[in-house]
Amino acid sequence: MDREADIIASEHEVYQPSPDVIRDALIQDYDQIMARALEDPEAFWAERAQALDWFQPWEKVLDDSNPPFYKWFVGGKTNIVHNALDRHAKTWRRNKLALIWEGEPGDTRTFSYYRLWQEVCKFANVLRSMGVKKGERVTIYMGRVPELPIAMLACAKVGAVHSVVYGGFSEQALADRIEDAQSRVLVTSDGAWLRGKVVNLKSMADEAIHRSPVVEHVIVVKRTGQEVYMEPGRDYWYHDLMSLPIASNTCQTEVMDAEDPLFILYTSGTTGKPKGLVHTHGGYQVFTSTTLQWVFDVKEEDRYWCAADPGWITGHSYIVYAPLILGATSFMYEGAPAHPYPNRWWKMIENYNITVLYTSPTALRGLMRFGDAWPRRHDLSSLRLLGSVGEPINPEAWRWYYNIIGQGRCPIMDTWWQTETGGFMITPVPSVPLKPGSATRAFAGIDVDVVNEDGEPVAANEDGYLVIKRPWPGMARTIYGDPDRFVQQYWSRFATHGFYLTGDSARKDDDGYFWIIGRIDDVIKVSGYRLGTAEVESALVSHPAVAEAAVIGMPDEVRGNVIWAYCILRTGYEATEKLNDELKEHVRHETGPIAVPSRIEFVDSLPKTRSGKIMRRVLKAHALGKDVGDISTLEA
Ligand code: WT7
Repeated sequence: MDREADIIASEHEVYQPSPDVIRDALIQDYDQIMARALEDPEAFWAERAQALDWFQPWEKVLDDSNPPFYKWFVGGKTNIVHNALDRHAKTWRRNKLALIWEGEPGDTRTFSYYRLWQEVCKFANVLRSMGVKKGERVTIYMGRVPELPIAMLACAKVGAVHSVVYGGFSEQALADRIEDAQSRVLVTSDGAWLRGKVVNLKSMADEAIHRSPVVEHVIVVKRTGQEVYMEPGRDYWYHDLMSLPIASNTCQTEVMDAEDPLFILYTSGTTGKPKGLVHTHGGYQVFTSTTLQWVFDVKEEDRYWCAADPGWITGHSYIVYAPLILGATSFMYEGAPAHPYPNRWWKMIENYNITVLYTSPTALRGLMRFGDAWPRRHDLSSLRLLGSVGEPINPEAWRWYYNIIGQGRCPIMDTWWQTETGGFMITPVPSVPLKPGSATRAFAGIDVDVVNEDGEPVAANEDGYLVIKRPWPGMARTIYGDPDRFVQQYWSRFATHGFYLTGDSARKDDDGYFWIIGRIDDVIKVSGYRLGTAEVESALVSHPAVAEAAVIGMPDEVRGNVIWAYCILRTGYEATEKLNDELKEHVRHETGPIAVPSRIEFVDSLPKTRSGKIMRRVLKAHALGKDVGDISTLEA
C-alpha cells in the first residue's frame, strides 16, 4: 500500500486502551480536565505551577498586555534546578537513580540524585570561578555523555543561559551560534563515539573559535582519550577543574525571576541565520513537567528512556529538565542505534528494564529495516508505554512499533510539538483511543486549530494552517537579540487573530483528531532533524565552485525526507563526479552530516520569481516527475 492510501485507511483504525492501562493511568477523567482547562487556562496552569517549589509566589499567572511577548507567573521567583535537583537531594530520593548511562563501547555510569546534584554543584562552582554571571551565555558542544546535562544544569544553577549546539553540527554552524550568543565560555569534549569511530569535536570547536573569536575559555571533557590540541591559557580539562578546591560539593542556587532566560536553542527557519529561541525558568518548568507526567504517565518506579539527543529541544525538555523535576530515573545511551548490531536498543531495553521508550519515526524505520528477528530475540516485556516525535509517523511504522516492540500492550504517545513550543502540544495521554499516524488532540489547556488563509477554522477533513490560538507557559519568549524577527516569523501571518503560526499544515478528522501533513515553509525535516533550505544553500555557496544553489526535500522511506541540491557553477569549474563528492564533503564539514545532500545536480539556471526568489516548489515538482511546464532552463 502506498503511504497516502495507508494514512487514509488508518483514520478508521482505532486502538482502544486496555482496561489495565486505563485503571493504572495517573490522570483519570482527562476529558473533564481538558474541558475545564480550556475554559480557564490560567487557573489550570496556576494549579499545575503549585505542584512545584517557588522561592516567592507569582503575583499574576499571565501578563498578556504586550502580545506576543507574553509573560507567565509574573513576579514569581524560582530556579528550575531547585525543582530538578536541589529539593530531591534533601529527601529520600537522594539515593534514587537519576541517570543510568551506557556508552557506545559498552561502558556504564550511574548517578543517584545526590551524586548528580553534587556534580552539578561542583561544575557550577567551576563556572562561577571563571566569572560566569547571571544572564551570561555559555555554549555547550558535546556528545551524549552525562557531562552534557551536568553542564546544562550547572549553567542554570548559576543563572547563566546555556546554548547547546548539537554534536552533529560542525564548524560553521557552531561558529554562527557562538557568535550570535556571544559566548565567552565553551564546554566541549575531546570527541564522541559514533558507530565505533571518534567524532573530533575538539578540532571542530577549535576551528569554530577561530572563526568566532569571542570565546575566552574552553572546558574539555575527556571522553575518547585521543590526543587533542589544548591551547595554553584558553583550554582546560574538565576533570582538572573538577578536582580543584574551588569545585566544592555545595553551591548556592541563584534566585531567578520566573521570566529570566534559562536557555537559548537555535533552530532552522526561512533564512540562513539560525534563530535562537529563548526559554525561561518559570513557565517552562511547569509546562514540561506537567506534559511529561501526564502523557508518559511517569511513576516513581519507571525506567524512562528518551532516545533523542540532549542537543535538541526533545532532549532539553524530556531528557534533562522534566524527568528530573518529576524525580524519575532516566536512561541515556551515547551512540548509534544499530551498533555494533541491530539489536543494541532491544538489548539495552532488556538489560535496564526500560518501561517507557520515546523515540522518532526515523529511528524506528531504520531499525525496522533489519527485520523482526532482532527485537524478538529480546525480552521487551518491561515496556509499558511508547512515544514518537519529530515528524508524522507513517501507519506502517506505527503498527510495527505497536505490535513488535510494544507487543500489542503499549499505547503509543505520538507527540506533536516544536522547539518553539517547549513541550507537547498535540498528544494523547494513555487513556485516549489511538489512530496510527495521528497525534490525536491538543493537550489540556492548549488551544490548537486548523484555519484557512483568512484565519477561519476549516471544515473537518480539510487542509489548512496549524495555529495555536492562546498563549501557553512553555512557549518561547523571543528570538535572542531579534524580537522583530520573532513577531514577524510567528505572529504576523494571523496578527489580527493573535494566532501563533506553527509552519505546519494539518487537518482534523470527524472525531477532531489532528493529522499533521508537514512543513509549509522552507524547513526540511531530515531524519526528524530540522534544517533550513537556506542553511544548506549557504554551505554550498561558501564553496568556491558554486555561484548559486537551491535545495529541496524529497520523500525518503527511512529518513522521511532527504536533501536534493541544484547548483550553478562559477565559470572555470566543471561539473564532474569529483566536484559532486567534494561539495558533499564541504557541506558535511561546514554544517554537519545531517545537512549533506543525497544528490547534487549541476544546472545552468534556477527557476525564479520576478523578484528573484528561487521557486523551490517548481524544482520539487520537477524532481517528483510532475508536470511543471517549460523546464528547459533546469537541465544542465
Ligand atoms: C516540527 C518541529 C518537538 C521536538 C522535535 C522536533 C514536526 C514534530 C511531530 C509529530 C508530526 C511532527 C513538525 C514540527 N513534528 N513532532 N509528532 N507529528 N510532525 O522539534 O525540530 O522544532 O521541529 O517537527 O513539522 O513543526 P523541531
